[in-house]
Amino acid sequence: MGLVTSKEMFEKAYKGGYAIGAFNVNNMEIVQGIMEAAAINNAPVILQVSAGARKYANPIYLKKLVESAIECNKVKGIDIPVVLHLDHGPDFETCKDCIDGGFTSVMIDGSKYDFETNVELTKKVVEYAHARGVVVEAEIGKLAGIEDDVNVKDNDAMYTDPNEAEEFVKRTGCDSLAIAIGTSHGAYKFKKEPRLRYDILEEVSKRLPGFPIVLHGASSVPQEFVEMCNKYGGNIPGAKGVPEDMLRRAATMAVCKINIDSDIRLAMTANIRKCFVENPEVFDPRTYLGMARDAVRDMVSHKIVDVLGCNGKA
Ligand code: G3H
Ligand code: 13P
Ligand code: ZN
Repeated sequence: MGLVTSKEMFEKAYKGGYAIGAFNVNNMEIVQGIMEAAAINNAPVILQVSAGARKYANPIYLKKLVESAIECNKVKGIDIPVVLHLDHGPDFETCKDCIDGGFTSVMIDGSKYDFETNVELTKKVVEYAHARGVVVEAEIGKLAGIEDDVNVKDNDAMYTDPNEAEEFVKRTGCDSLAIAIGTSHGAYKFKKEPRLRYDILEEVSKRLPGFPIVLHGASSVPQEFVEMCNKYGGNIPGAKGVPEDMLRRAATMAVCKINIDSDIRLAMTANIRKCFVENPEVFDPRTYLGMARDAVRDMVSHKIVDVLGCNGKA
């Protein structure tokens, strides 16, 4: 099966009341950890590459890493559908580059622009992508929180307006839509009690029946990793994510794609810190990167089975 678009994946996920995990990849160990978890659980998977990842690893390396993972699966007789997706495409050129380079899905993130500019930009990407068999995710409404390239001030936070969501999808022809219902990027998501606006999600799905919704900023920031980081020399007090049962509920609704990056960072960092403190004699990167890779595999496996519900759906 190898690389596919998310079209069929989302149709099945919508009907089946589960979601597909979209995991950010930046290096070999991350790709391997995620792919192993997907294979163990016979789960469809989305590997996503941000502009920052392209800058860090070089787009050619990332594409080849994903292709290598699929080829390794083939050799082992494993056949799971994989989507290669551009995360938070900042402009038309980056989307075009990924489409021309063999990605099966791109996100154009026009949420930083006003509604009309976002519509025009998204339409332009959709036209180019669809002519080449590639699907497009778009975004309206701003997510709260701060994360590297993806930066929105907390007091700018606002929820998606279902009227706008309906109009946006109808005018742009995008294939999926990221909406703001209370999640945010990074490891500090809620100052008070976690809250997601399921009412907005419900309203959007009433207006756009069967249309796949995407949840960004959906890491749950497992306290086990936060505590491990802090215990072994880190300093991330008070890090908090979206509780897993809240994500599970969203996955049974119109949410078909759940984005996870911070949890990968935390799983790796916590385990590398632990390894360094407990084994000061270790200086072979394969030792600590191998542990980090196993931690990513176990974390992703847990998400697939206990949060997304996409195990056995490949
Ligand atoms: O949503 C943002 C992702 O976590 C990607 O982060 O831009 O640092 O690669 P990044
Ligand atoms: P987290 O920071 O919650 O992992 O969100 C990742 C994301 O939305 C990538 O687009
Ligand atoms: Zn995001």
